[in-house]
Amino acid sequence: MSDRMGAPSPGRFITFEGTEGGGKSTQIQILAERLKSEGRVARCVREPGGTALGEEVRSILKHGFHGHPMTAESELMLMNACRAQLVREVIRPAIAAGEIVLCDRFADSTVAYQGFGREMGWERVRPVIDLAVGATWPHRTILLSVPVEVSEARRASRGSDASGRRDRFEEEDRAFFHRVEAGFRAVADADPHRVRVINATREVEAVAVEVWSHVRDLF
Ligand code: TMP
Repeated sequence: MSDRMGAPSPGRFITFEGTEGGGKSTQIQILAERLKSEGRVARCVREPGGTALGEEVRSILKHGFHGHPMTAESELMLMNACRAQLVREVIRPAIAAGEIVLCDRFADSTVAYQGFGREMGWERVRPVIDLAVGATWPHRTILLSVPVEVSEARRASRGSDASGRRDRFEEEDRAFFHRVEAGFRAVADADPHRVRVINATREVEAVAVEVWSHVRDLF
């Protein structure tokens, strides 16, 4: 990619965060299409996953390992093993090539789910995240916010996955998701320039317009 003067356009890294049912994947698709229609290369990835190793570990993270229990510490490190691989194998090379990387969840999910949801604390999860990401932080993060009750209803209407299973996170109770929500709020309060909170209870198109208004300055 290059601009009109022939200089290479800088790559960008944008993440989408929030509890289940906020419409992250829909908004990522809409933004990717818009960027592509403007001639940019948009690459969509997800966490945990996005690499061969990461997709394998994702299944363990979501559904456990043959019914064996998983400690919060193991969960934290497996999430970040996936992340370390994705950052080095996909995200950094793509940014270096001038692509726009759109990632469905990233490090803020670890703060919210493991730090707050699992009550490990931000201070304990931070060094693990730092090791996984190094200097690769998102240029912008869109936090699609829906109240816990709305998220619950959307999850219920979506049902379980193709194999009929609910994942380990979907099985958590309402108190867990209230803590996760508090975690996302804390992340947004700590870095309001990077993290933009959008009310995702509205129509898809209205949310998409707002998403664009929060990222357009990056291009
Ligand atoms: P999803 O792709 O359907 O959103 O599932 C991923 C699940 O993993 C979701 O419930 C959130 C959870 N998760 C964490 O607990 N910590 C993390 O760092 C990430 C990336 C996801």
